[in-house]
Amino acid sequence: METKILSGEQGIKAGAEIVRAGGVVAFPTETVYGLAANAFDPQAVRAVFAAKGRPMDNPLIVHLPDKNQIGRVTRGYDKKYEVLVETFMPGPLTLVVPRGSDIPDEVTAGLDTVGVRVPSHPVCARFLAACGVPVAAPSANLSTRISPTSARHVFEDMNGRIPLIIDGGECEVGIESTVLDITGEAPVVLRPGAVTAEMIAHVLGEDVKSHSGKVLAAAPAPGMKYKHYAPACECVVAENISSALACYERQKNAGKNPVILCRGEHAAMLGGARFINLGGTDEEVCRNVYAALHKGEKTADFIICEDLGDRGVAASVMNRVNKAAGGKRV
Ligand code: TXA
Ligand code: MG
Repeated sequence: METKILSGEQGIKAGAEIVRAGGVVAFPTETVYGLAANAFDPQAVRAVFAAKGRPMDNPLIVHLPDKNQIGRVTRGYDKKYEVLVETFMPGPLTLVVPRGSDIPDEVTAGLDTVGVRVPSHPVCARFLAACGVPVAAPSANLSTRISPTSARHVFEDMNGRIPLIIDGGECEVGIESTVLDITGEAPVVLRPGAVTAEMIAHVLGEDVKSHSGKVLAAAPAPGMKYKHYAPACECVVAENISSALACYERQKNAGKNPVILCRGEHAAMLGGARFINLGGTDEEVCRNVYAALHKGEKTADFIICEDLGDRGVAASVMNRVNKAAGGKRV
């Protein structure tokens, strides 16, 4: 199968036609690129799992063009959470809510809940509106690989597996949406993202539980038990910039071709060591981290990422980097 890349109205129109006919296409969102299928069509949803090589017990998020359409896929949810929809949607927040009766088991892996999200990317919103049906979509990478933040990244994993990639440029946010379960006693962040637990707690005026980001044996977000975001080469997290540099020297001496991923302000401390600048602010680091991992695995054989901190959005970024490193620290 030839995989086309189209942008603008041409991409949106062709993509929506494919989805309505039961096919699978890649599309941009503000977080990462997704692989879209009609959420009401079990056959189409199975084709998404096949294209990604994803286990069927890991549920998909359902995407809608407008927050007024959330009722199409849920049985409703506690009214006190309406404020989250009003505050954070459209945007990088997925709410896990009671599942509506039209959503097939294939989407939710048989769970009684469904993840819903209203992306803010303008091309995405027009594409979802043109589809006319709720769109079930995982990130558009092969299972266990680094998530894509550009059409080029999608092409590297999906060439020959899907007919079309809608090109909407580089993703602004850069890591996947925050997944928040609001079906229990207290809201629980199942996957950290750009909307942080602190931001949610502030808006709700109540405590929000948070998963540590460790891989759990029986995780409530089924995706959390799988290995994720793995680069093709070895990857470690360095405690600070000097341990990053020490590790770099050790790898060099062992004949390796390492690269350091660090904040811009630390680049000056690296002497001649090869580095990829992740940017200055937490938002920049978030936007750049997957592209840096993609570039790192292509141009080096050992990735050393400095610890970016454990607060706010930086903590969400480290959740992904720690997984890429398989928990290895130096
Ligand atoms: O930003 C995003 O969320 C991107 C874009 C494409 O929207 N999508 C994405 O999908 O990251 P995916 O499939 O790669 O990750 C979805 C995560 C998985 O960890 C899955 O287990 C969890 O959300 N999830 C989905 N539905 C759930 C449910 N009903 N209950 C608990 N966890 C759920
Ligand atoms: Mg994913």
